[in-house]
Amino acid sequence: MKMILLGAPGAGKGTQAQFIVEKFEIPQISTGDMLRAAVKAKSELGLQVEQVMKSGGLVTDETIIALVKARIAERDCSNGFLFDGFPRTIPQAQALVDAEVEIDVVLEIRVPDDEIVKRLSGRRVHLDSGRIYHIEYSPPKTENRDDETGELLIQREDDKEDTIRNRLTVYHEQTEPLIEFYTKLSASGHKVRVISVNGVASVDEIKQEVARNLS
Ligand code: AP5
Repeated sequence: MKMILLGAPGAGKGTQAQFIVEKFEIPQISTGDMLRAAVKAKSELGLQVEQVMKSGGLVTDETIIALVKARIAERDCSNGFLFDGFPRTIPQAQALVDAEVEIDVVLEIRVPDDEIVKRLSGRRVHLDSGRIYHIEYSPPKTENRDDETGELLIQREDDKEDTIRNRLTVYHEQTEPLIEFYTKLSASGHKVRVISVNGVASVDEIKQEVARNLS
C-alpha cells in the first residue's frame, strides 16, 4: 500500500496516520517529523530549514524530494509507506510520477480553517516519538507528560496563531491543488484512488470512516 495523507495543517493527518500504519504494517513518512528531527540535531539540513519552518513557509522542493527519495529507498518501505505531509506542491507530486512511484490511495481530510486554529493552538507533542495530544480533545494521562515515557510535551514553534494563518494560506495556494492533480491522474489511467473524508468528528469516528473507505 502506497498512500498519501492530504489535509491542512492540523487536519488530523498525524493522528489518523497512527492507526493506518498499524493496519497496513507500513512506515509513516512524515517530512515534518524528519525536518524537526534535523532541526533538533542541528544538522546541516536542520540549520538550513529552521527559519522557514518557524515562519510557516515551505522548504524547497529540491530539498524535500531528495529527502523523500532517500527515505523510500530504505528496506522498510518495500511493502509501501504512508506519506504524511508530502507531497505538498505540484512539483513534489510530479517528482513521484517521474520516478514511477505509483500511489494507491490519496486520502484527503477536510477541516475548516477556524477549527484548525483551535486544534493547533491546543496541540502538544512528544518530539522524539511524534505522539500527538490536545490539551482539551485528547489530553495526556498526566498533564503535559507523554503517556509512554513520562517526558515533557512541547508546543511546536509553528503552532502560534499568526504562523498557523500563514500555514493555512500556503496550504490553500500550494497544496490544495493536489486534489485536482490526483483526480486527473486517476482519470488518465493511473491506479490512484482519491478519497475525501470529513475531518470534523471525533478521532474514532474519522478512523472508522477511513477504515470503511480503505477496506
Ligand atoms: P508538518 O509537520 O507536515 O505539519 P502540517 O502539515 O502543518 O501538519 P500538522 O502536523 O501541523 O497537522 P496534522 O494534520 O498532522 O494534525 P495532527 O494530527 O497533529 O510540517 C511542518 C513544516 O515542515 C511545514 O510548515 C514546512 O515548513 C515543512 N515541511 C514539511 N513537509 C514539507 C514538504 N513536503 N514540503 C515543504 N515543506 C515541508 O492534529 C492536530 C491537533 O488536533 C492535535 O492536537 C490533535 O490531537 C487534534 N486532533 C486531531 N484530530 C482531531 C479530531 N478529530 N477532533 C479534535 N481534535 C483533533
